[in-house]
Amino acid sequence: MSTSSLSEICQFIADDLAALEKTLRENTANEYEFVDLAVQHVVGGGGKRLRPILLILSAKACGYQKGDVHTLATVVELIHVASMVHDDVLDEAPIRRGSDTLHSKWGNKVAVLVGDYLHARVLSMLVARQVDDPAMRMLSEATQSMCEGEVIHAYKIGDFDISQEEYLKIVGMKTGKLITASCTMGAILGTRDEKIIQVSKKYGESIGTAFQIIDDLLDFVADGEKLGKRPFNDLREGKLTYPTIYTRQVCTDEERATLKQVFNAEMDEDSAIEWVQSLLNRYRTQEHCLQIAQDYVNRAKSALTVLPDSPAKRALEQLADYVVSRDW
Ligand code: IPE
Ligand code: IPE
Ligand code: MG
Ligand code: MG
Repeated sequence: MSTSSLSEICQFIADDLAALEKTLRENTANEYEFVDLAVQHVVGGGGKRLRPILLILSAKACGYQKGDVHTLATVVELIHVASMVHDDVLDEAPIRRGSDTLHSKWGNKVAVLVGDYLHARVLSMLVARQVDDPAMRMLSEATQSMCEGEVIHAYKIGDFDISQEEYLKIVGMKTGKLITASCTMGAILGTRDEKIIQVSKKYGESIGTAFQIIDDLLDFVADGEKLGKRPFNDLREGKLTYPTIYTRQVCTDEERATLKQVFNAEMDEDSAIEWVQSLLNRYRTQEHCLQIAQDYVNRAKSALTVLPDSPAKRALEQLADYVVSRDW
């Protein structure tokens, strides 16, 4: 059976997603023309809106019927967008969501400050809507963890010996925590049953790791146009990620030595890319990454079994499969 596309999976929450776009726009509009231009460049369209989608689906799958799901959905997307704006500065990435990154258009100073501005908007939205304590705690913990993960990963650039365990810990922090918080906060909007809330948390943790492993893989195998990002950016940056950590472990000593030279930028860029691609092919790294991501996705899906059947639960199951099959 073929996997559904993200828009097919989300068709039944189309109204919620339209409301999300409106809330995002309303809450980030700025009276100063250039601030507004820079902010809308990164907030408006182009992204998958994965975290708000997870929040809305988790809420519905856990019994949410009415109330304010859109504030939190907007907040998780804004935190994510802020992290991407800063991440692109760190990664010197030229393209995001198919457009020039903010820093490549207007410089690092503007990008750093727009990221800060988005965090400030998040704070004022939460204060204005008096969002309750568990959500506040989860969002602040997730944001902190995301920044810590990014700092550690930035520090590890050039560390050719980073272990798979260390890397997965970083992934849990930089990517997993916000995805997990999105799922958990959604669940809390729908239920007070701690067992159900834990189900959503577990789903989020597994999905988050699978999502980043596939993101790492796509950096090597995806079509840049479709991905909306410049491929091979992790390699250019000297950052080992899941595919290269795995390959480093299984290749020969001689290949490992060459791989190290590649990561130390001792080979010209085109030859380095070609050499690494053939190494990954030789060790069937793509298949391995897909298998590992599928294992996480299966864990996520089996966590959901205790939830009663509903369109939202089925969408969460399909979303899990989408995470492994996606190519953007
Ligand atoms: C990219 O996130 C960063 C990772 C955590 C891998 P997304 O792939 O969700 O980015 P957008 O929001 O769709 O652009
Ligand atoms: C995402 O990791 C980092 C955060 C979650 C902040 P990546 O660096 O792999 O994301 P992309 O590939 O630039 O989207
Ligand atoms: Mg990046
Ligand atoms: Mg990446």
